[in-house]
Amino acid sequence: MKTNKISIKTNTKNYSIVIGRALIGKIDKIFEANGLKFDKCLIVTDKNIPNKFKKLLYRKLKIKKNFKLEMTASEKNKNYHAIEKIHNILFDNRFNREDCVISFGGGIIGDIVGFASSTFKRGIKFINIPSTLLSQVDSSIGGKTGVNNKFGKNLIGSFYQPDLVVSDISILSSLPKREIICGYAEILKSSLIDNFDNFLYLDKNLDKILKLESPFIEKSIIKSCNLKKKVVEKDEIEKNYRKVLNLGHTFAHSYESTLGFSKKLNHGEAVILGIKNATEFSFKKKFLSKEKFNTIFNHINRIGMKPKIERLFKKKDISKIINFMKIDKKNNSNNINLILIKDFGKIILDFQISPLNLKKFISNTLN
Ligand SMILES: NC(=O)c1ccc[n+]([C@@H]2O[C@H](COP(=O)([O-])OP(=O)(O)OC[C@H]3O[C@@H](n4cnc5c(N)ncnc54)[C@H](O)[C@@H]3O)[C@@H](O)[C@H]2O)c1
Repeated sequence: MKTNKISIKTNTKNYSIVIGRALIGKIDKIFEANGLKFDKCLIVTDKNIPNKFKKLLYRKLKIKKNFKLEMTASEKNKNYHAIEKIHNILFDNRFNREDCVISFGGGIIGDIVGFASSTFKRGIKFINIPSTLLSQVDSSIGGKTGVNNKFGKNLIGSFYQPDLVVSDISILSSLPKREIICGYAEILKSSLIDNFDNFLYLDKNLDKILKLESPFIEKSIIKSCNLKKKVVEKDEIEKNYRKVLNLGHTFAHSYESTLGFSKKLNHGEAVILGIKNATEFSFKKKFLSKEKFNTIFNHINRIGMKPKIERLFKKKDISKIINFMKIDKKNNSNNINLILIKDFGKIILDFQISPLNLKKFISNTLN
């Protein structure tokens, strides 16, 4: 399949997402074609990316001064300390705003590096080379950057668009099945937000997509990127419409926070549980028909995700879950804001529910 290019135009930056296979081997040419030239750069890589990809990237980058930092991607490390580590290297080596920071990793490394880039001297060049399915279909695009703290997930952050995104599908071959499922969570979310045809495509080709078969994986990535482009171009800083992308995420973020960002539940898995909750809640409130609810539910059950909500949480955890939901960024009253679904392509942005009523709903799902 040929290399694809999607252009994103926002108020703060215009940039491209280049999608294809074996792109790392051509990275110098891709930078050049996108007008990116700099003398100094810091490359922040994820420890788990196989060495052959890292070595290839270092060899192909034709930059006078390269600095390297390897990080362990975990929600627990996605914090201020990681930002400081990056800033220290940039200051120690006299980086200026015309130099560049490259993230070569999944959503965790990308969010950290993006935030560090946006805050270093109020913004240094930032290139994202996402190495997980989730980061290729979602987190590398649209400029949300940030870190976690003890109050919850992604609560410290900024909107800072990258200068370029290079999504090399060949890198995904080393991902464990569990991480492919995590990425699929955001692909599914995109299809629900977009339209029924995209959902049908996933439903028909689910097994091939999860096996990263060509051209199914390419098409799924491109469809998700196009949906994200559409949303981000309309509402870059989440004044309202961009909230659609949070379908399932109010539940997801509070599950992750309640578990203390444990490896028992990865972000993408939390998103699948969250989509399931949002769909079920939409059906119970009679927004979503029984037929459509069943279609989505059956699809989710076919994904084969291991963590089960009733095994992760006990009834005694519900207050903690609700407390994390209360500090979600989307709330602007004492109520909790949920993103719900009426139909494929029809999302409800502002459903307000009291913490007490939500408690009852979650309690029932744990039965
Ligand atoms: N900024 C956004 O818009 C946005 C959107 C969605 C999610 N996110 C964030 O993204 C994060 C989740 O991203 P993720 O799912 O990519 O997680 P991740 O970055 O933790 O990567 C998942 C795992 O895969 C490993 N890995 C990475 N690349 C690999 C490769 N090529 N081969 C083998 N292993 C590899 C990592 O070390 C890690 O163990 C969350 O923190 C979430 O909040 C941000």
